[in-house]
Formats: sequence, C-alpha cells, structure tokens
Amino acid sequence: MSGPRKLFIKSFGCQMNVYDSHRMADAMAREGYIETDRPEDADLVVLNTCNIREKATEKVYSDLGRFRTLKNEAASAGRRMTVTVAGCVAQAEGEEIRRRAPYVDLVVGPQNIHRLPGLVAKGETAVDTEFPVEDKFDHLAKPARKNIRARGVTAFVTVQEGCDKFCTFCVVPYTRGSEVSRPVNKIVAEVEHLAAAGVAEVTLIGQNVNAYHGEGPDNLPWTLAQLFQRISEIRGIERIRYMTSHPRDMSDDLIKAHRDLKKLMPFLHLPVQSGSDRILRAMNRKHGREEYFGIVARVRAARPDIALSSDFIVGFPGETEEDFDETLDLIRKVRFASAFSFKYSPRPGTGAAEMGAQVPEDVKSERLQRLQALVEQQRQEFNRDLCGQEFDVLFDKPGRLEGQIAGRAPYLLPVQVMGPSHLIGKVAKVRVADVGSNSLFGELIGSEQDYQEEPQNLAAAGVS
Ligand code: SAH
Ligand code: SF4
Ligand code: F3S
Repeated sequence: MSGPRKLFIKSFGCQMNVYDSHRMADAMAREGYIETDRPEDADLVVLNTCNIREKATEKVYSDLGRFRTLKNEAASAGRRMTVTVAGCVAQAEGEEIRRRAPYVDLVVGPQNIHRLPGLVAKGETAVDTEFPVEDKFDHLAKPARKNIRARGVTAFVTVQEGCDKFCTFCVVPYTRGSEVSRPVNKIVAEVEHLAAAGVAEVTLIGQNVNAYHGEGPDNLPWTLAQLFQRISEIRGIERIRYMTSHPRDMSDDLIKAHRDLKKLMPFLHLPVQSGSDRILRAMNRKHGREEYFGIVARVRAARPDIALSSDFIVGFPGETEEDFDETLDLIRKVRFASAFSFKYSPRPGTGAAEMGAQVPEDVKSERLQRLQALVEQQRQEFNRDLCGQEFDVLFDKPGRLEGQIAGRAPYLLPVQVMGPSHLIGKVAKVRVADVGSNSLFGELIGSEQDYQEEPQNLAAAGVS
C-alpha cells in the first residue's frame, strides 16, 4: 500500500448535501480515508447529487462520464476506484443510475449514508435506497477536530430533515422522505463538539427547519426558538442562523426570537415561490400572498433591520402574465435583500408535471430575466443602505489582498477589511466604507488594543 486511501467527494444542491458530504467524509476518515481534491488520485469517489431540477440531474450524468475514464485509467494502473452516487438523484433513480452508467459501483440514498463504510468494505456493487428503520445520525462518526478546523469557523448542522408538505413542483418529499426532527440533546452535543474545535457560528438546517419539533430534555417537543435559546448558551457559539423556513411554520415564538435573541442573526430566508394566490394554490403552498405580507410585517416589527430573502419559481403550469405581475408586485412591496429564482422544471412523479398549460421555455426565460433584474436592483439598494453603518463581523478567512481579512455581516454579506489575521475566528466591529458589487469594504473600529493578539484564545479560535 502506498499511504492512506483517498476520498474525492463532490456536493451538488443544497446545504443538506454539504452537511451529508462532511458526515460521509467523517465516516470514511474513521476507516483511514483522507480527502483529496484530485479525483484522479481517489480510491473512493462520491458524487452527492441533487434532483431538484432537470438540469441538476443531467449534470450528474455528464459528470459521471468523466469518472468512467478515470476509473479505467486507475484500473490500468492496477488500482481500484469505487464510484458512488449518493444524495437525491440516487434516491429518485436508484437502479436506473447503474443502467445508464454501469461503471457506478454504489448508489446510496440520503438516509443511508451511514452505511457507506460497510458498503465500501464489502467491495461489491450495491443500490441502497430503502428508507432505513435506524436513524442515520446515530450511526455517523463525529468529525475529528482537525477536519472541523479545516472546514472553518462556521458550520452547518442538520436539525430537521424531510418534508410532508408536497408542493406540487417539488421532489424533496420523495427523495428525503417524511419530516423528522432530531432530539435537542443530540443537536446540543454536536454543536458543543463543533464549538470546542473553534466553530463560532452554526447554521441550523432543514428542508422545513421552522417546522422543527424535536424532543427536548423534558421529553416534550421543542420549537426551533427554544432550540436557539439552548444553543445560544453553548460556550464559543457567537452566532446562530437557520434555513430554510416555510411561511406556514413562521410561529410567533420564532418571530420573537428575532427580537430577543442577540445571537440570532437578522437574516431570514423565507421562500414564497409566487405572488399569485391562484398559482400558490396550484402549487399547494398552503399560504396566500396576504399571509406572506402579514408575516413580513410581523418579522420587521420584531427586527426592523432584518434582511429578507426568498426563492421564486417562474413559469409554473398555467402562470399567466397577470400571475407573474403579481409576483413582481409582491417583490416590490416586500423589498428583498437577495433571492434565488428558477424556471419551473417539470419533475417526474410530481403533481405539476402532469398539469396542462405548461409555459413555453422562451416565456419562462423572459419572465426570469425581468424578475432577476428587479431582485438585483433591490439587492443593490439593500447593500447601498449599509454604507456608513457599523456592525459586528465574524471573520472567517484571509481577504483577497495582502493584509486583508474577510468575514460576514450579520446580514450574511461578505465584508473585507484591512486587519490582523489573528482576528480570523473572532467577531469585531466594522464600519462600512464602501459597497462593491458582491461585498462590502469596511474598517475595523475600536482601539488598537482591542485587536492585540491574545495567545490563549488562538487555540479556541481554531487559528494555527
Ligand atoms: N424547502 C424549501 C425549498 C426546497 S427546494 C421551501 O419549502 O421553500 C429549493 C428551491 O428550489 C425551492 O424553494 C424552489 O424555488 C426551487 N424548486 C423546487 N422544485 C423546483 C422545480 N421543479 N422547478 C424549479 N424550481 C424548483
Ligand atoms: Fe419542497 Fe415544498 Fe417541501 Fe419546500 S415545502 S421541500 S418546496 S415540498
Ligand atoms: Fe437537491 Fe435534494 Fe437538496 S433535491 S436541493 S439536494 S434536498
């Protein structure tokens, strides 16, 4: 053997996949695998895939082609390369993947990732997409300290998975299964472990994170707001974020947490998808346009500076020009700091794929362009308004230029300042001096001695 075995892992899609990829890497690390960013060197390749739109799925197949070549080259050099497709395409397509790409060894669904080490050790081909009875989280390895540090001072933690809402355009309920919340004590233990290795910010993630109702230490279901409160007590955790929320589950205690909990960042990703009640009904979103305005008003009353973001789908079946105008109108009224927008993509097995009145591609493209221009204008306005303001920045990496460090504003925007590298992993006050197209430029405020190096804190900050 020439050194440790190597793992190449690539994530597509949402943060849930990023989290799962880390956990697969952690599980394989226990088996002696180290990560490489050179696929040609890998003994094990994992593509952690996304099935949300047709393009995402097709990307997987085009990527796989490259691994056939690499696998053949490895075999000619007398080395075995195990090619794995994990994630939502694995779940949705199962055996079909091995039919289209027979050189794939393993197909592993998102709820079965804890079984990867066992499947790799067996050395046989397998398709593992049955929803397991056991909980994957109970069987996954804890990340090693050095892996946590390599991933930086911010971390994702899955607290809720799956979805029972069945929006008619969406594959997630089929690929991730039904909604499950992790118990509070398990989440707390995981965050404590991350904090002890220097993580200062956690983003609690879930497909419907605000539907969280995990079991608390008192054996009662806890809300997300209660979980935030408990996590904010963990030493070393300076900031809490969460995504993705559904308007239906935007409860009063969660809105109040934005007013009362200092560590909860003023950023809310709250997808609305459309501004037309008719389309929202056809999407089975279970909320209307006025309800959304109501939530926004309550959230802003609780936390006036909050940055709002959303997802939009244009060209849902039956969407008329009037429906689309209502979406533009909603955007104008709410004023978003950022948003993701997509052309509707019919997904096999979902309700909307079977609907008549599919919108032609060129109409979708044209609407998407108009919507994106409006959102871009609002994004720039939001950023421009930050000029001259002062707020805390969590620094997480060196900046682009010599002597610069980079971090994130409470509103999630990247911020660059001239400053000492020992501030990486820490929060410091910044005044925004200039607004670039994608980031803010600022200066540290406070006295020189606020930024003196404190050697005893460096280990905790994960700076070496
Ligand atoms: N759970 C979240 C979002 C999950 S998917 C929610 O309820 O909002 C992320 C985004 O992908 C969605 O918000 C939606 O805007 C988009 N999306 C999902 N299915 C899609 C499809 N079939 N075509 C186009 N966009 C889609
Ligand atoms: Fe998909 Fe709707 Fe569930 Fe979000 S709430 S994951 S869009 S089905
Ligand atoms: Fe994609 Fe699955 Fe996430 S379909 S968006 S990777 S839940």
